[in-house]
Amino acid sequence: MAKEPVRVLVTGAAGQIGYALVPMIARGIMLGADQPVILHMLDIPPAAEALNGVKMELVDAAFPLLKGVVATTDVVEACTGVNVAVMVGGFPRKEGMERKDVMSKNVSIYKSQASALELHAAPNCKVLVVANPANTNALILKEFAPSIPAKNITCLTRLDHNRALGQISERLNVQVSVVKNVIIWGNHSSTQYPDVHHATVGDKPVRELVKDDEWLNGEFITTVQQRGAAIIKARKLSSALSAASAACDHIRDWVLGTPEGTFVSMGVCSDGSYNVPAGVIYSFPVTCKNGEWTIVQGLAIDEFSRKKLDLTGAELVEEKELAYSCLS
Ligand code: NAD
Ligand code: LMR
Repeated sequence: MAKEPVRVLVTGAAGQIGYALVPMIARGIMLGADQPVILHMLDIPPAAEALNGVKMELVDAAFPLLKGVVATTDVVEACTGVNVAVMVGGFPRKEGMERKDVMSKNVSIYKSQASALELHAAPNCKVLVVANPANTNALILKEFAPSIPAKNITCLTRLDHNRALGQISERLNVQVSVVKNVIIWGNHSSTQYPDVHHATVGDKPVRELVKDDEWLNGEFITTVQQRGAAIIKARKLSSALSAASAACDHIRDWVLGTPEGTFVSMGVCSDGSYNVPAGVIYSFPVTCKNGEWTIVQGLAIDEFSRKKLDLTGAELVEEKELAYSCLS
């Protein structure tokens, strides 16, 4: 018997990530090749015509899994009945800006959209915040939508995770699919900590195979931390296809589960695990099963890593204060 369609909201759907993301969702890349979807696309009135153009293209693409499209500038209509919400709407940073420089514009959007989701989304809606500053926008959404369980609100650090996999794969000249269990700790910002202490290729630790701690503790980390800026410099636009693909990976693993023995990175509400400040949205290694994520516990953290976990945690606490000052 055919499955019931899942309603997926994409905010900022007329933007560049939206344009890459909606066909992926309609093709089953996010929720599976047997899962029909109804797309809800939200943007703001100046982008209404462009949004309508995206809707026309979705019709023209004749996706078999796509059972309906809602394209609207009305946040209530967009949020009504959605099971998955991918929050991309907002302003991207430009060359020379840090992600927190877009804070004041974006946190107020997340405060107001929190209420719409809380009131109108389907119960148990899973929320993924992509727009920057992603962790702090997700935190604001969580705080202003108190009836949505905190475990249902996450932010995207899977792009950073995938970037780390890509760097290791290039360095070792192996397929990216055999590199496993890298971790992104903390903020989706230049303080994030890409950690390979627990990463493997086949049954071998990445550290043993790379045999170059100087690279792993230096250039590897800064390359992943600065990759967003490098893309902006090269494209004059921020990453879009890789961000859309990572958003699909994040939701797919959350809903359908992570493969046995594999963990991924997700920005989730910190419960204080690994002595990370509780309550902020922090990227942890997680496994997913039955639609729920669980932080991987008991990983050894050496002194080098400890400092990096603390630094990015402190930035998130500081960003929280800054966000509240923007909202007051
Ligand atoms: P974009 O400017 O191309 O698109 C953003 C869209 O959001 C625009 O169409 C805009 O009209 C719309 N928008 C603005 N305010 C809105 C609101 N209140 N409600 C609904 N829509 C609204 O930007 P983009 O390149 O698609 O990037 C979107 C966001 O994602 C940016 O904040 C960017 O920095 C962020 N981003 C995050 C990651 C990540 O890994 N977390 C990766 C790439 C980009
Ligand atoms: C990215 O990591 O590519 C995005 O967050 C865009 C940015 O501003 O870096």
